Amino acid sequence: MDELPIQTGDDVVRIRQHVRNAAAASGLSLVDQTKLVTAASELARNTLIHGGGGVVRVEVVKSAVGRNGVRLHFADEGPGIPDVDLALTDGWTSGSGLGLGLSGSRRLVDEFELKSEPGLGTNVVVVKWSR
Ligand SMILES: Nc1ncnc2c1ncn2[C@@H]1O[C@H](COP(=O)(O)OP(=O)(O)O)[C@@H](O)[C@H]1O
Ligand SMILES: [Mg+2]
Repeated sequence: MDELPIQTGDDVVRIRQHVRNAAAASGLSLVDQTKLVTAASELARNTLIHGGGGVVRVEVVKSAVGRNGVRLHFADEGPGIPDVDLALTDGWTSGSGLGLGLSGSRRLVDEFELKSEPGLGTNVVVVKWSR
């Protein structure tokens, strides 16, 4: 398990590379590697821009049926998300973004869990399995 900081744009670039390496090591196809890296990029950017910075934990995992995968846990202690369902709506943004980061990320991975408490922060856990 590796923990990487998310405090700058350069950190986001490093996270993309780190996730690419973990995805390749766990045997994900090139297409699935790219899907996971794209999701990681959006979620890291959200942690940075909306969450005021945080961390991501990157872990290569194995499923009950013996499949390899990569699990990413993004955590921040920012303002949180008052309405999670609304935030997951295609095109909804509280700022000037495209509002496709959360909804798009959810479609690119196999497992997606978003937990947020206003005032306490936001946690997003995603998993991509090799097939
Ligand atoms: N880590 C976070 N902390 C606080 N709010 C967040 C976080 N991630 C997402 N959000 C909220 O969810 C909304 C939708 O996120 P997203 O789909 O990535 O769109 P965008 O980043 O383009 O605004 C954001 O506009 C923001 O209000
Ligand atoms: Mg976003």
